[in-house]
This record gives sequence, structure tokens and C-alpha cells, in this order.
Amino acid sequence: LSKIEIKLSDIPEGKNMTFKWRGKPLFVRHRTEKEIATEADVNLTELRDPQHDKDRVQNPTWVIVIGVCTHLGCVPIANAGDYGGYYCPCHGSHYDASGRIRKGPAPLNLEVPYYEFQDDDTVIVG
Ligand code: FES
Repeated sequence: LSKIEIKLSDIPEGKNMTFKWRGKPLFVRHRTEKEIATEADVNLTELRDPQHDKDRVQNPTWVIVIGVCTHLGCVPIANAGDYGGYYCPCHGSHYDASGRIRKGPAPLNLEVPYYEFQDDDTVIVG
């Protein structure tokens, strides 16, 4: 399927759910207020692949990224690592709760796919 419809109310606050989309894992994360505030505050000079959180999300509550590590393609683990976002156990890449690379060998942030919110509870990815 080229598009996937996700019901957001199925994803509790603080949790990341993994879907399968175009043969890849797709992460949808329901951020906490604390995560939203922390990521909005990150100084771009700290980042290897500088991107402001607001340029990676359409709605700060929801992070939607491809769950493929930009190093060699393993699937990172959610809510793990030094920055609390995602941790790739293959070679130790740490991503923040915006999906940005913070530490380890991966060169780039987790990719943000094209998506649209259909209504408050539904996002269509693809
Ligand atoms: Fe993720 Fe190497 S594939 S750190």
C-alpha cells in the first residue's frame, strides 16, 4: 500500500508505535509535554544534522519518522538511548525525541515522510 491511515487515539502519550509502510517500519510517537519543550529548545549548533524540531513536525505532539537508522539501516529502539528518543543497538546511534541524530555513527536525522492530518485523530502517511 502506498498510503497508510493511522488512528492517533490508539497511541498513548509517551509511547511510540511502529507500523509497516512501503516495506519499512514507520514510527509514530505521541510526545509528552516535557519532550515537546525539550526538543523545541535544542540549540542547532549542538546538532550534526541541524534541523529545528518545528521543521520536522506538523503538530508538536506527533513525531512521524521512518524507523530506519541512517547509519546502516537497522531499526532503532524507542524511548532508549542518551537522548530518550531512539537508540540503534547495531552500532550505538542515539536519536532525540525529534528523531535527530545526537551521538554515534549515523550521519543524518531519521527521515520524515510526507504526511497529512485528515482530522484531529487521523493522519495519512504517503
Ligand atoms: Fe544504526 Fe549502525 S545501523 S548505528
